[in-house]
Amino acid sequence: MERQRSFSFKPTRLLLFTFTLFSSIFFLSFFTISLTKSTTTAPSPITLVPILQPGTLHSFTQNNFTRANISTLIDNRLSRSVNRSKSEAVRDRSVASSVEFGEMRDNGTMVEVVGLVGKSKVSIFETVEVKKKVVKGCDLSKGYWVFDERYPLYGRDSCPFVDEGFDCEGNGRLDRNFTKWRWQPQDCDLPRFNATKMLELIRGKRLVFVGDSINRNQWESMLCMLLSAVKDPKRVFEARGRKITKEKGNYSFRFLDYQCTVEYYVSHFLVHETKARVGQKRRPTLRIDAIDHGSSRWRGADVLVFNTAHWWSHYKTKAGIYYYQEGTMVHPRLNVSTAFGKALTTWSSWVDKHINSKKTQVFFRTSAPSHFRGGNWNSGGHCTEATHPLNETLNTTYPEKNIIVEEIIKRMKTPVTLLNITSLSEFRIDGHPSIYGRKTQSSRIQDCSHWCLPGVPDTWNEMLFFHLQSRLE
Ligand SMILES: *[C@@H]1O[C@H](CO)[C@@H](O)[C@H](O)[C@H]1NC(C)=O
Ligand SMILES: *[C@@H]1O[C@H](CO)[C@@H](O)[C@H](O)[C@H]1NC(C)=O
Ligand SMILES: *[C@@H]1O[C@H](CO)[C@@H](O)[C@H](O)[C@H]1NC(C)=O
Ligand SMILES: *[C@@H]1O[C@H](CO)[C@@H](O)[C@H](O)[C@H]1NC(C)=O
Ligand SMILES: *[C@@H]1O[C@H](CO)[C@@H](O)[C@H](O)[C@H]1NC(C)=O
Ligand SMILES: *[C@@H]1O[C@H](CO)[C@@H](O)[C@H](O)[C@H]1NC(C)=O
Ligand SMILES: *[C@@H]1O[C@H](CO)[C@@H](O)[C@H](O)[C@H]1NC(C)=O
Ligand SMILES: *[C@@H]1O[C@H](CO)[C@@H](O)[C@H](O)[C@H]1NC(C)=O
Ligand SMILES: *[C@@H]1O[C@H](CO)[C@@H](O)[C@H](O)[C@H]1NC(C)=O
Ligand SMILES: *[C@@H]1O[C@H](CO)[C@@H](O)[C@H](O)[C@H]1NC(C)=O
Ligand SMILES: *[C@@H]1O[C@H](CO)[C@@H](O)[C@H](O)[C@H]1NC(C)=O
Repeated sequence: MERQRSFSFKPTRLLLFTFTLFSSIFFLSFFTISLTKSTTTAPSPITLVPILQPGTLHSFTQNNFTRANISTLIDNRLSRSVNRSKSEAVRDRSVASSVEFGEMRDNGTMVEVVGLVGKSKVSIFETVEVKKKVVKGCDLSKGYWVFDERYPLYGRDSCPFVDEGFDCEGNGRLDRNFTKWRWQPQDCDLPRFNATKMLELIRGKRLVFVGDSINRNQWESMLCMLLSAVKDPKRVFEARGRKITKEKGNYSFRFLDYQCTVEYYVSHFLVHETKARVGQKRRPTLRIDAIDHGSSRWRGADVLVFNTAHWWSHYKTKAGIYYYQEGTMVHPRLNVSTAFGKALTTWSSWVDKHINSKKTQVFFRTSAPSHFRGGNWNSGGHCTEATHPLNETLNTTYPEKNIIVEEIIKRMKTPVTLLNITSLSEFRIDGHPSIYGRKTQSSRIQDCSHWCLPGVPDTWNEMLFFHLQSRLE
C-alpha cells in the first residue's frame, strides 16, 4: 500500500479545510474528468483518505440534491488528488460554523448550488456543468469511502437470496453503518447502481459468475441488487428450483421479465480438482494443466466474472507437496506462485480458445482482502470489533497473485477487464461477518474473509455495472 501521512489542524483551519474539501470534491467530480487520463498515469506517491462525517451528507437522490450539510471531517487527512487550488470558488472565507446547501438544482446538465455560509447567503459555486457521462479510462481503484445515507442499495428483508453466511443482520449484527459507505473514485464518479438499467443491459443474456465463495458472495449481492427493480419477485427463480446453500455450486436464476439469467458456478481454482495415485495412496490433486470440468457451463455466457485466489493457500494446497498435477505427473513439490501462474495460463488459453469476444465480455475480479487481527482464521483471528472502515489501510503489499493475473491477462488475445477491488476493500475491516456468519454464535472461529450483504460486494457490482455501461457508449 502507499504510505499515508497525517496533517493536524487548528479548529478554524479544520473548518476551512472541511469546506475546501467539500468544494474540491464537487469540483473534482465536475471538472477533473478531462484530466483523468493524465492523472491516472502519473505516479501518485501518496493516497490520503478523507472520510466525511456521516449523517450530515444525506438525501442525495439521483436528480434531487436536497440538503447537504458538511460540518466536520472525521479524518484530518486530505486527498492529495483533491486539488486545493480548485477551491478558489469559495468566495466567502469568513469562518463558518456550518455550511448548508439550501438548494442544488440539477436539470440534467447543470447544477446550481446556492449556499449559506454562516448567516450570509452567498453563491458558492457558479453554475457548473456536470459531466454525466461515464468516464472511460478512469481508475476506479483509487479513491475513498464516503458515508452516504442513500445506501445500502437494498434491504436485508427485501432479498431472500442472501444465504446464512452473509446474512449478518439476520444473524444478529446490530450496527448498520457499515452498509452505508459509498466508494468515491478520485478521478470520476461511480454511477449509482441502477437495477433497471442493469437488467436492460443483460436482457436476453447470461451473466455468469465463476469462482470461489467470495464470487458467490458477489453473485448473491448482484441478485439482491437486481431484485430491487423487479415488481413481482415470483418472476425471479432458480431454474431447477435449488435453494442457495454453501454446498451446492451450480445456480441459475432466471429473471422472466428480462429473459436473462444470473448464474454462479463454483470453481475454487478454475482448474480441475481430481485425485491421483501417488505411491500406494490416492490423493487429491489439482490438474493445473486442465480447465475445471464445469467449464462447459461457462461457455456461451454474455458476461463472465471470474475469480480465484483464496484457495491457493499453503493449507488448502497441501503445502504444494504431491498436490499439483500436470498430465500424469504429480509434482513432489511446487511453489504456490508457480502453480498459480500455470493454472491461470491454463485458464487464459481456455478463454482465448472458447470465448468469442464479440459476444462475451470477460472480467476477472482481483483478490479480496481478509482482516484477521491477532491470529489467523483458525487461531483466534478476529475482526468483530470493527464498525468503522480503516482510516488508512494496513501496510499490506499488493498481492503477488494479482500481479500474476495482470501479467497473464496482458498476454491474452481476449480482452479481459480487471475488477480491481483489492485496495478499496482493504479499508473495509468493518464489512466482514465476523461472528455474524451463523445464526448461533457458538463457534469461536470468526469470518473475516467473506462479506456481509448488503455490503462491500455491492460496490464491486457497481464497478461491474460501470464497465458494462461504459462499453456501450
Ligand atoms: C426531492 O426530495 C424531497 C425530500 O426528499 C421531496 O420532498 C421532493 O418531492 C423531491 N423532489 C423531486 C423532484 O423528486
Ligand atoms: C447542519 O449542521 C448544523 C450544525 O451542526 C445543524 O444545526 C443543522 O441542523 C444541520 N442541518 C441539516 C439540514 O442537517
Ligand atoms: C492543480 O490545479 C492547477 C490549476 O488547475 C494545476 O496547475 C496544478 O498542476 C494542479 N495540481 C495538481 C496537484 O493536480
Ligand atoms: C439547464 O439550465 C441551464 C442554465 O439555467 C440551461 O442553460 C440549460 O438549457 C438547462 N438544461 C435543460 C435540459 O433544461
Ligand atoms: C489495482 O489497484 C491498485 C491500487 O490502486 C494498484 O496499485 C494496482 O496497480 C491496480 N492494478 C491494476 C492492474 O490496475
Ligand atoms: C454510526 O451509527 C451511530 C448510531 O448507531 C452514530 O452515532 C454514528 O455517528 C454513526 N457513524 C459512524 C461513522 O460511526
Ligand atoms: C434507471 O434506468 C432506467 C432505464 O435506463 C431509467 O429509466 C431510470 O430513470 C433510471 N433511474 C434513475 C434513478 O436514474
Ligand atoms: C455443476 O454442474 C455440472 C454439470 O452438470 C456438474 O458436473 C457439477 O458436478 C455440478 N457441480 C456442483 C457443485 O453441483
Ligand atoms: C516461488 O518461486 C519464485 C521463483 O522461483 C520465487 O521468486 C518466489 O519467492 C517463490 N514463492 C514462494 C511463496 O515460495
Ligand atoms: C477513524 O477516525 C475516526 C475519527 O477520527 C475514529 O472515530 C475512528 O475510530 C477511526 N477508525 C479507526 C479504525 O481507527
Ligand atoms: C511498511 O512496509 C515497508 C516495506 O515492506 C516497510 O519498510 C515499512 O517499515 C512498513 N511500515 C510500517 C509502518 O509498518
